[in-house]
Amino acid sequence: MCGIVGAIAQRPVTEILLEGLSRLEYRGYDSAGLAIINADQHLQRERAVGKVVALKNKLKSKPLIGLLGIAHTRWATHGKPAERNAHPHVSNNRIAVVHNGIIENYEVLREELKAEGYQFESDTDTEVIVHLIEKAESQGMNLLEAVMSIKTRLRGAYALGVISNDEPDHLIIARHGSPLVIGLGLGENFIGSDIQALLPVTNRFIYLENGDTAQISRYEIALYDVTGESVERDIVQSNASMGSCELGEYRHFMHKEIFEQPQAIQATLDGRLEADAFVNCISGTTANGQTAQQVLKEVDEIQIIACGTSYHAGLIARYWIESMTDVPCNVEVASEYRYRRQPPKKNLLVITLSQSGETADTLAALEKVKQTGCLATLSICNVPESSLTRESDFTLMTLAGAEIGVASTKAFTTQLVALQILLGLLMQAKQADQAKIEHLITGLKQLPLLVEQVLDRDTAIETMAEDFIDKNNALFLGRGEQYPVAMEGALKLKEISYIHAEAYPAGELKHGPLALVDNEMPIITVAPNTVLLEKLKSNLEEVRSRGGVLYIFADKAAKIAKQDNIHIIEMPAIPESIAAIVYSVPLQLLSYYTAVFKGTDVDKPRNLAKSVTVE
Ligand code: F6R
Repeated sequence: MCGIVGAIAQRPVTEILLEGLSRLEYRGYDSAGLAIINADQHLQRERAVGKVVALKNKLKSKPLIGLLGIAHTRWATHGKPAERNAHPHVSNNRIAVVHNGIIENYEVLREELKAEGYQFESDTDTEVIVHLIEKAESQGMNLLEAVMSIKTRLRGAYALGVISNDEPDHLIIARHGSPLVIGLGLGENFIGSDIQALLPVTNRFIYLENGDTAQISRYEIALYDVTGESVERDIVQSNASMGSCELGEYRHFMHKEIFEQPQAIQATLDGRLEADAFVNCISGTTANGQTAQQVLKEVDEIQIIACGTSYHAGLIARYWIESMTDVPCNVEVASEYRYRRQPPKKNLLVITLSQSGETADTLAALEKVKQTGCLATLSICNVPESSLTRESDFTLMTLAGAEIGVASTKAFTTQLVALQILLGLLMQAKQADQAKIEHLITGLKQLPLLVEQVLDRDTAIETMAEDFIDKNNALFLGRGEQYPVAMEGALKLKEISYIHAEAYPAGELKHGPLALVDNEMPIITVAPNTVLLEKLKSNLEEVRSRGGVLYIFADKAAKIAKQDNIHIIEMPAIPESIAAIVYSVPLQLLSYYTAVFKGTDVDKPRNLAKSVTVE
């Protein structure tokens, strides 16, 4: 959360910073700001509440011109969205700081600085940082020394960009917990919260390690590790394209990304399936040199850890893993797992799932697992070189391409594909029945086409969504692995349309939620042709006989007749092994169209951000 961009160049940097901010807006969009050092060596700043465009508009009438600058788009943690809380924060009119993360001990530091005469303009935790740096500098340190010296005072997470009008040829950065990357140009260098921000200006990057500090000049990067020792870090050449961030013919990124799913799934499958076997596509080794194949042979328990939509992908995978192998699988949200005591388990494989690879809770849970001990850690992730992939023993990449819409869609379905590939590899390692392995492969090969067929129902789903415009609540039902599909459907609806939505296993209705059912409560359910179909139909009858209005995505074989309070969209025949993936798609479209009808900000729903890099 919060996006940082910075640049030091031989040309004016404002446009580069603004373009970077626009590309980082998915990380936060409460307010934005920019500071530069101008030709007279003065620090100048502009900030605006709202999206980056509000800052751009302000700068049109009052341009800031300089060759060194930092900028920020904010997701409020401490202090409401307001101009005075927007970054960059400034001390003594000469030092400016942008910050992503949370300083946990800011209250103590604030009191201490106030007692020394520093005046605070904002309610943020960040402002203590800039005053601490100013204090260190005024005691005789240069900017780099000042930043290094104050790091020991900060508890919590941070990625920092710092400039001072006394040092117009340097940009100082530091990282602890929150991500930060350096972009390398010719006679110019950049910083960003991720590479997306910098793709218009470079494709060569250095990823900072935790604890790193750097002094960035036009021609030189000096890097220091956590101990303050000078250090070299690898330069990574990225193949990421800028194009994936363009809307094209679509009105919203979410719609575009829903429609990109057949290609994203195909890309995640490419080269990973043979006619009768899964191809090992897991990279990495454990610290003692074990390969993924060796680990999968040895594993006797799996723990999946993730947040939000990624957590739902994990829940679905549990059904798959436990039905196809004898390996027990637990799934837990990272924010709980990280604070729960866990006994060490020798043959435990820990799988973290994350689109961004930067989710603070997931990273902290992984850190905890590594301390407690396990057989190996494996991340399934959409962002190469993210913190999660770098911290895990093994990585299995999803190839969804950049996902910009805050509501995760193609990242979710490609996570499910990656989880099936992992399942196939596990089954091979455990020498499972070959027919079952081939059955999985057959299902996966049909997947892109079946998702395309579901997308053809776009208009019918749009029409269905009209019924939801005036609703305040919705219930989602599913059975078996369709229960987490229902959970994901409910999450999508609530996050982008702001309709309160809950998901239940359909068999649980009579134990309480049935009391909520009346003709004002839409009930959305997915009914693929699985072993639980008849049970689900009985549960739906319980709802209908109490006046509930049902919206069902059903396999033809379900033979559910259209009636007054039953709305059905018929789905193509789908193999049970991939039903959870395919049935997620109509629920994404239903939420999307409901949000469009309600006029919400689909790609940037209120209060949320795409990459949750704070606890
Ligand atoms: C919902 C959504 C979030 C994320 C969650 C984890 O549509 O996108 O619930 O799934 O914040 O993010 P990642 O997968 O990046 O760890």
